[in-house]
Amino acid sequence: MKVLGIAGSPRRDGNTDILLAELMRGAASKGAEVKTIVLADLKISPCEHCDNCLKTGECKIQDDMQTIYQEFERADVVVLASPIQFSGITAPMKAMIDRFQSRWARKYVLKKPPLGDERPRKGFFVSVGGRKNANFEPSLVMIKTIFAVLNISYTGELLFFKIDKKGAIAKHPDALRQAFLAGQKLVES
Ligand SMILES: Cc1cc2nc3c(=O)[nH]c(=O)nc-3n(C[C@H](O)[C@H](O)[C@H](O)COP(=O)(O)O)c2cc1C
Repeated sequence: MKVLGIAGSPRRDGNTDILLAELMRGAASKGAEVKTIVLADLKISPCEHCDNCLKTGECKIQDDMQTIYQEFERADVVVLASPIQFSGITAPMKAMIDRFQSRWARKYVLKKPPLGDERPRKGFFVSVGGRKNANFEPSLVMIKTIFAVLNISYTGELLFFKIDKKGAIAKHPDALRQAFLAGQKLVES
């Protein structure tokens, strides 16, 4: 089983990075092949809405998104990790999601499987907000939308609020254990 983790925070080794690493460690402990991609290390341009993909099912922009498409196709489980920024997901995560417009076109216009085959895939979301009343709802809507478009079954999320300072999640009494267990469960079930 291949588990793909997408780290969406611009802050390296921050709270969502730590949670994602722990989740992937849990998945690996159950024998999964794990791979983490850090969006901050990549160049992903915004969707230009050129509509080229409506005819081809491909995105004409040649950048690191081409690697992401391949990795999603290979994966059995996709874990998206993004902190809350202005009540939504981060800009790199949004840019990645918008570039799946070509896969939306494959599915709804060209009537083809968005990820090339009909294999069942599972999706999971990890997020952290700094405020005690962090609003995760807009992010959840976007994450569930992209998983639905890609025929990836949404299986759940780990959300932690009032976690702001870099690395603060490591002092949370239970978060790392929850992330590890979530990784194990994603592979087992
Ligand atoms: C640009 C920016 C916007 C943010 N907006 C929110 C917000 O709307 N709500 C919230 O609860 N926290 C917000 N935060 C705080 C982050 O969610 C918080 O610091 C989180 O722990 C960062 O996770 P990371 O270390 O994985 O990047 C914001 C932080 C930044 C830098």
